[in-house]
Amino acid sequence: MIIAVDGPAASGKGTIAKALGQHYGLPCLDTGLLYRAVGLAVLRAGGDPDLEEDALAACDFDDNLLAEPTLRTEAVGSLASRVSVHQSVRAALISRQRDFATQPGGAVLDGRDIATVIAPDADAKIFVTASVPVRAERRFADAMAHGGHPDMDTLIADIQARDTRDMSRDHAPLRQADGADLLDTSNLTIDAAVRQAIVLVDAQLAGR
Ligand code: CDP
Repeated sequence: MIIAVDGPAASGKGTIAKALGQHYGLPCLDTGLLYRAVGLAVLRAGGDPDLEEDALAACDFDDNLLAEPTLRTEAVGSLASRVSVHQSVRAALISRQRDFATQPGGAVLDGRDIATVIAPDADAKIFVTASVPVRAERRFADAMAHGGHPDMDTLIADIQARDTRDMSRDHAPLRQADGADLLDTSNLTIDAAVRQAIVLVDAQLAGR
């Protein structure tokens, strides 16, 4: 069984995907980490994330990079969003994601194009979203909890820039796939959002 979870930055998709993995006993892949690793590898190589050949060369990143805490920063998220517009970068990361999705027993994957490109035949598809102010608040709380001094206006601008880039790119733009259920987490606690996601997945599985 494959469960696809897509959505914009800080919508709650990662948390929901992990909880779905636990609930259904499936392994989970945060595909954003792959793009983040490419973004960080370009930076460390002194390359330009907006140059396709530099970004493609970084797809060969060392897997140890996937465990680095730096990968989770907003700065690297923004780099990831820049390298992910290149078609060759997306192509270089496809087989890794498809292999994970099609492993025996199934999997949960979260990202931007899981239900549209990576696993269009997924058994259940959820598109998680939340308003920009709510998503910025979450990033704010997250940064504070990690000892940061975030600026709300900067966070809002970063989220809006990333949304625009992810939704307007030519290749695999972020969008709600046909057959995906919308889950707006703006006014939901984590527990409530997870419960609702399980209801949606169960209904999709029952309808198959
Ligand atoms: O955690 P957050 O939602 O902030 O970001 P992420 O899921 O780690 O993704 C970082 C960036 O990678 C996104 O802004 C996308 O541009 C890109 N990405 C993508 O293009 N396709 C995916 N399947 C996952 C991420």
